[in-house]
Amino acid sequence: MKTKITGISAYLPSKVVTNDDLSKTLDTSHEWIYTRTGIASRHVSADDETTSTLAIKAAREAILKANIDPMAIDAIIVSTTTGDSRFPSCACKVQGAIGAYKAFAFDLNAACSGFIYALAVADSMMKSMHLKNVLLIASETITKFVDWTDRSTCVLFGDGAGALVLQSSNDDSSGILATKLYSNGEEDKFNAILSHNGPQNDHRGYVTMAGRTVFKYAVEYMAQSMKEILSENNMTIDDIDWIIPHQANKRILDTICKMHDFPIEKMIITTENHANTSSASIPLALSETMDKGTIKKGDTLLFTALGAGLVWGSAIVKL
Ligand code: ACO
Repeated sequence: MKTKITGISAYLPSKVVTNDDLSKTLDTSHEWIYTRTGIASRHVSADDETTSTLAIKAAREAILKANIDPMAIDAIIVSTTTGDSRFPSCACKVQGAIGAYKAFAFDLNAACSGFIYALAVADSMMKSMHLKNVLLIASETITKFVDWTDRSTCVLFGDGAGALVLQSSNDDSSGILATKLYSNGEEDKFNAILSHNGPQNDHRGYVTMAGRTVFKYAVEYMAQSMKEILSENNMTIDDIDWIIPHQANKRILDTICKMHDFPIEKMIITTENHANTSSASIPLALSETMDKGTIKKGDTLLFTALGAGLVWGSAIVKL
């Protein structure tokens, strides 16, 4: 049995904030942000938009594309670090909104690596629990959790959601080929590197980050996990059509390619107009590049991400 992706969609809030907009209220400039991150603009959720409202919009479209009845969905997983509240889960809100009343639903938090973690969990659940259809959404409103007066963090982030319909199939010619997950919470030092310094949904707490240290780990660990998943599956980068990394920062991706010999021409980069949307960044990039026709059915994709924890990992999928 293989787990196939049969519907892919995304949703971005309509409000766009450019670097020039930010420079009106912050001591920063388009030039500073763009040269260090590759980010030119980001989508920012409105006050009445939440992680679950973004997730519902992306989910509805993915279901239409997969052409399935919501009542046929067995499970819903929402990857998020920025849920509407500590409970209930965003996944339950999605279930109610789309009328998937036969599904069980839960949220998964693996920071910016959440999409890859959710893909691994969904694939494994589908095989062990004999599920036919799973709706996987990665949705984030991280701009509600940043300090908009802190120029060293707020310029990096944006909001958005990506949704996938996963279906189990007897056809082994495509689907999720491999997943590999890692964590390192060793010592408190990782909290100092990248964390949210308040309780969930407590807006007195903000994203904090040691930028240069995150940069170093992101390059080293994403490269290592891509190399390991390829070699463990007897593949090389020549077997991969496209690499879709977590879109934190274009400079991180350039450095991975330069230092670890990954071909930059195979790397999908959407940081310019999305910024860092945490776990939503990979499905957002996938959806956008499929809509443009860059990525096509039959292509083999390598996903990779690193996030707070630290958590990181990679996945290989043939569409
Ligand atoms: N505009 C202007 N100046 C700024 C800004 C800004 N937005 N932000 C920081 N600066 C200033 C600092 O105050 C500092 O000034 P000082 O020298 O007078 O003290 C100077 O720029 C240099 O600051 P650094 O933090 O050393 O700048 P650096 O060159 O390292 O770039 C950056 C910062 C872009 C955050 C970089 O470290 C980076 O890309 N890190 C990766 C972090 C990342 O992408 N995180 C995303 C979340 S993690 C994830 O998703 C995996």
